[in-house]
Amino acid sequence: MLHQQPEAMGELAELLAGLALVVDTAGSATEAMRRIRQSSPHVVIAAHRPPALDAVAFLEATIAHAPDALRIAIVATPDEAVELDYRPAHAGTIMRFVARPSERSRLVALVAEGVKLLALVEEQRELVRRLGAERERLQRRQTLLDVVVKERTKELEESYLKLKAANRQALFGLAEAIEAKDPYTKGHCGRVAAYCLVLAREAGYPEDGLETLEFGAFLHDIGKIGIRDAVLLKPGPLDDNEWLHMREHPVKGFEIAKSIEMLKPIMSAVRNHHERWDGSGYPDKLAGHDIPLAARLVAIADAYDAMATERPYKAALPLEECEKILRKCGGTMYDPDLIEIFIERKVGALYRDEYEGLETGYEDDYEADAG
Ligand SMILES: [Fe+2]
Repeated sequence: MLHQQPEAMGELAELLAGLALVVDTAGSATEAMRRIRQSSPHVVIAAHRPPALDAVAFLEATIAHAPDALRIAIVATPDEAVELDYRPAHAGTIMRFVARPSERSRLVALVAEGVKLLALVEEQRELVRRLGAERERLQRRQTLLDVVVKERTKELEESYLKLKAANRQALFGLAEAIEAKDPYTKGHCGRVAAYCLVLAREAGYPEDGLETLEFGAFLHDIGKIGIRDAVLLKPGPLDDNEWLHMREHPVKGFEIAKSIEMLKPIMSAVRNHHERWDGSGYPDKLAGHDIPLAARLVAIADAYDAMATERPYKAALPLEECEKILRKCGGTMYDPDLIEIFIERKVGALYRDEYEGLETGYEDDYEADAG
């Protein structure tokens, strides 16, 4: 856009023709402003001819219609260019001063540079716009992905829980099958698991290991599957050979537990629940704290339940009697510290009607486990 004296405009238009630009000219400030409003040019050039036209004031007025344009004022001399350049008012826009006619080549270079600059600005804007759109698209995709992942995770969790429940059921069923052979031991495994859990809590057993412990306590005699019925169900006392066979059940149970992924964490409770504190137990003759804690807990719960329930060959012993025997065996057969906790916290009262009113704080949690 040129605003010049008519003869100079033709000359300038010719000068800029080499840049392959669309050049528009206007003979007056009013006409020029009208065209600028219509076409929003990239470069605006105005000749400074006071008092007819103040180029700086005119160029400033074009900012509203062509905000990104390069603004060039053509002045009479280099001195006038310097003087105008010191005017503070044109801050905020690109404005250049060219003295005519000495700086013609500079004008061409300036216009070329301005056009290039504007092209870059536009390219950058386009890039920012495209990046914004891409970001939005990715965000939408991410949200969608989050929803899908959450749904899949939920499905997987549900499947896992179902599978876990099915596995537990199958394994508990197995343990119950052993109990079912001998009606007098019915409910034994469930009670052992309950005593074991209460005692473990009282002894400060890690909270996240309690479920596994309960499982281990319930299945501690799973190896009895491998014991011959003639021995397992023999009504009278066992002879030496029969005892040897019976004592294989922890190792047989361990072999079963080893091969089933879900039972692996409870292998020690299965294998070592007949170890004795003094090292005289079986199968590994472990002693003291070398016996895994889970196995020490199961041993006490197992022994207590055997004493506390009626069998064909013996009556159920009262709680105090059982506690007395357990205390006597603490330090030889059982972990003495655990025995003290067992007695102190009246863990044995769990399934005893006569202690129904006893405030132990765990009745509600474990009553349901009784078989
Ligand atoms: Fe056992």
